[in-house]
Amino acid sequence: MSTAYLSGFSNHFESEALPNALIKGRNSPQKVPCGLYAEQISGSAFTAMRANNLRSWLYRIRPSVLHSEFQAFSHPYLTGTPFLADYTPPTQFRWSPFPHSSTKQNFIEGLFTLAGNGCIAEQTGAAIHLYSANKSMNNEYFYNADGDFLIVPQEGELLFKTELGDMTVKPTEIIVIPRGIKFQVKLTGPARGYICENFGQPFRLPELGVLGANGLANPRDFKIPVANYEEREGEFVLLTKFQGKLWQAVIHHSPLDVVAWHGNYTPYKYDLTLFNTINTVSFDHPDPSIFTVLTSPSAISGVANIDFVIFPSRWMVATDTFRAPYYHRNIMSEYMGLIQGNYDAKGEGFLPGGGSLHNCMSAHGPDYDSYLNAVNSSLQPEYYANTLAFMFESRQVWRLTSQALQANFRQMDYLACWQNLKPNFNKLTSTLEE
Ligand SMILES: [Fe+2]
Repeated sequence: MSTAYLSGFSNHFESEALPNALIKGRNSPQKVPCGLYAEQISGSAFTAMRANNLRSWLYRIRPSVLHSEFQAFSHPYLTGTPFLADYTPPTQFRWSPFPHSSTKQNFIEGLFTLAGNGCIAEQTGAAIHLYSANKSMNNEYFYNADGDFLIVPQEGELLFKTELGDMTVKPTEIIVIPRGIKFQVKLTGPARGYICENFGQPFRLPELGVLGANGLANPRDFKIPVANYEEREGEFVLLTKFQGKLWQAVIHHSPLDVVAWHGNYTPYKYDLTLFNTINTVSFDHPDPSIFTVLTSPSAISGVANIDFVIFPSRWMVATDTFRAPYYHRNIMSEYMGLIQGNYDAKGEGFLPGGGSLHNCMSAHGPDYDSYLNAVNSSLQPEYYANTLAFMFESRQVWRLTSQALQANFRQMDYLACWQNLKPNFNKLTSTLEE
């Protein structure tokens, strides 16, 4: 886990767990060194433009095709498209922290689908899942045929053992496991967090425009794994998410048996504390797109299928400015989560491990106490310390699952946080100032 990942897709990486296991100059020679099988995994159409083309060549002990027939696997809380509009009024929503399970469950068993949009079959849209796990995956392996997993840990460290190597992530870091890459999650203790499952175009770094060549998430800070194969036989389960449902097949070996690989289709991780935050040094707010870490473009230029946005610790220096996030309504639909600390638009109720949802054109902004603080505080340079909120922002409305609407951790009184906002209008003030 030492190589920088440049998310421009024209990059090339290679890694080998044994000396000379990686073939020089050929992708698929007649005989692969060490008696390995050569196998390509493509994350884009073969004919995608070079800048968007994603593929890796894997040199493995056994080819991926060795497993039994897939059978349906029942999961009580995981949902796929179509996400129906039935459970989604335009109301603003908020949830308390996702409760930990009282029973033992691994990362896959602990998934809970909160919302989604788009269409898996059409490869558009995304889903939001929460996870709560307290047990390692041992005899189970998983891959997702429906989309990429962008995983945002909020509590507990996770070890991702993947086909291309291992990576550990902790809260304040994220990991992206691309569509199709097999993995297993090991825990050292209870873990909880958020997942954006992206059915659309793969995440990439946003364009920087007039910012220039540097800023926001810098390419050098993305990390990829190094080859680390598992030679293990037994009776295991290969789980997959395919067309919105889970499936299982028996597999008699570890599918994490890749000895060497090269290409640009790989899991990657990023430390959010390395985000180069850019904001005003005079007055007013740039729009929150200035905080975009990764974006999944849609077919419309400049309009994201998904933006992953963070609100990290930062200096606030704007003069003569309502510094809290302004009241607004938006064509985009915003799910927010909190990794640590407090968020400056909400005093209480928005807690680490919880979340809020403000869908298309649903008004939102600071609660009453945050409003009072923003209009009355003296504006000195101020450092917002130990805070890290994030947003999964989509061009499509987030449609709730029925379990999200009915969840016992949904805050039924969320709208109360704004109800004390009274009119301060005084037309005599206008007369006096003339
Ligand atoms: Fe917003």
